[in-house]
Amino acid sequence: MRNAHHWWQRGIVYQVYPRSFQDSNGDGIGDLKGIAARLDHLVDLGVDAVWVSPIYPSPMADFGYDVSDHRDIHPLFGTLQDFDRLVEAVHARDLKIILDFVPNHTSDQHPWFVESRSSRINPKRDWYIWRDGKPDGGVPNNWVSEFGGSAWTRDEATGQFYYHAFLKQQPDLNWRNAQVRAAMLDVLRFWLDRGVDGFRVDAIHHLIEAEHLRDNPLNPDWREGQSPARRLIRLYSLDQEETHAAIAEMRALADRYGDRVLIGEASLPIEQLMAYYGDDTPGFHLPFNFHLIKSAWEPHVIAALIEQYERALDGGRERWPNWVLGNHDKPRVASRVGPAQARVAAMLLLTLRGTPTIYQGEEIGMEDVPIPTQAVCDPWEKNVPGLGLGRDPERTPMQWDATENAGFTRGEPWLPLSSDHGVLNVQRQRAEPSSMLSLYRALIALRRREPALSIGVHVKAEAVGPVLTYRRFHEGRWLSVALNFSGEPQVFRNGADAHDILLSTHLDRVERCNGAVELRANEGIVMAAA
Ligand code: GLC
Ligand code: CA
Repeated sequence: MRNAHHWWQRGIVYQVYPRSFQDSNGDGIGDLKGIAARLDHLVDLGVDAVWVSPIYPSPMADFGYDVSDHRDIHPLFGTLQDFDRLVEAVHARDLKIILDFVPNHTSDQHPWFVESRSSRINPKRDWYIWRDGKPDGGVPNNWVSEFGGSAWTRDEATGQFYYHAFLKQQPDLNWRNAQVRAAMLDVLRFWLDRGVDGFRVDAIHHLIEAEHLRDNPLNPDWREGQSPARRLIRLYSLDQEETHAAIAEMRALADRYGDRVLIGEASLPIEQLMAYYGDDTPGFHLPFNFHLIKSAWEPHVIAALIEQYERALDGGRERWPNWVLGNHDKPRVASRVGPAQARVAAMLLLTLRGTPTIYQGEEIGMEDVPIPTQAVCDPWEKNVPGLGLGRDPERTPMQWDATENAGFTRGEPWLPLSSDHGVLNVQRQRAEPSSMLSLYRALIALRRREPALSIGVHVKAEAVGPVLTYRRFHEGRWLSVALNFSGEPQVFRNGADAHDILLSTHLDRVERCNGAVELRANEGIVMAAA
């Protein structure tokens, strides 16, 4: 049975946002040597794989998601040699390393785009999406950039417009062009040959646009104060059928390398997401499921979500679930649900069926950090200020200890550190038996000990008042999870049989109980049938 599951099914992924994890050279920006120096934290935590957000050369218009060279390391982060050492160090600890692959667009400084924009007859012209403006000189259609403003920018040199789903410094590649597809597969090969264990594939639902480039319809549900890109229903600019053939090619390549993983980033409703597992030909191993981030933190909502997801997965071959509470693009979970419920959320993440991904800092309960206007870095906040779209608050440096710069850097950190790092840090929480870090370690250890949690079946999530419950089962062993979403004590009736409480989010309770269990405010427990 042990080998019937892949490492990425049994395992837990940990996302490192490299600029903010650990600085080794005092420039205030995290780097590869820094990551290598902190690997023991990941071992101590008990995770299996580290996904590192982009580390390639980049003008940093979108902090690395604007790649100007796919086959090198940004000097800020180190060198290819540092990278090879990091891979070695990761593997020496029996961990896996997953890189970020950004296929939808490049930087406007990428040599491909520099060539493409140079003339209408350049051989790379068709590598990007160029169109004439309207006869009156206006943009080719009404599409809006995810970061605000038109998704089209006119280029003086040739008088045509190029399409960019994100910043104008991030022109979209034309994936209908066979040379582009081949060149991007070569990029994957380059890193696979260097030993990486997989990729998180960025913004995949943007990969291909409808060829006719018709105007997108207006979104009747859009309200003032929401992201300008949501003013339109992205009918023709998102989630196009042809994308799946491109993903299948990535998958076929990855499969030639053995047990590698492809995780797709597509923020879509559950039904649409299922197509990203592939159909006749396999697609992603794990299309990211962001619905815990998007859903209201209420037990009946979460129960319905879990059941909807499980139902959607059902019947599909090899559709393995996955869950996340946060990432470098979304407000931190501890800020969304509050510090007390963040512990309940951690228990949820680590006891649900499916691969969990932890975002750096979640394991110590880091919260969003308010960023003064003059310190704003994120281009989204700069383009569309004041709506709370900016992502700097969840990207502040990791809090390692209580020293001046939290052990992150000996220089000036690129984003402000949280004022709470004196109390909220790894070093302190490691020594505290009831800390968030202790809870994460205990949950991960439990998940490792209990195959029912990692590979067991899921049985029925439901809300009983403010308590969310579900069960997990594997080879004769039943576990039940009960999560109190409220700040009041609750009684949870768990049938007549005796149960052992294996773990409480309060970390102070290992006991046998019969029938009813008293849950304290904001307490979650995992029980086993005795
Ligand atoms: C993804 C990334 C985000 C980035 C965008 C454009 O959504 O997670 O950080 O800005 O793609 O590459
Ligand atoms: Ca695209």
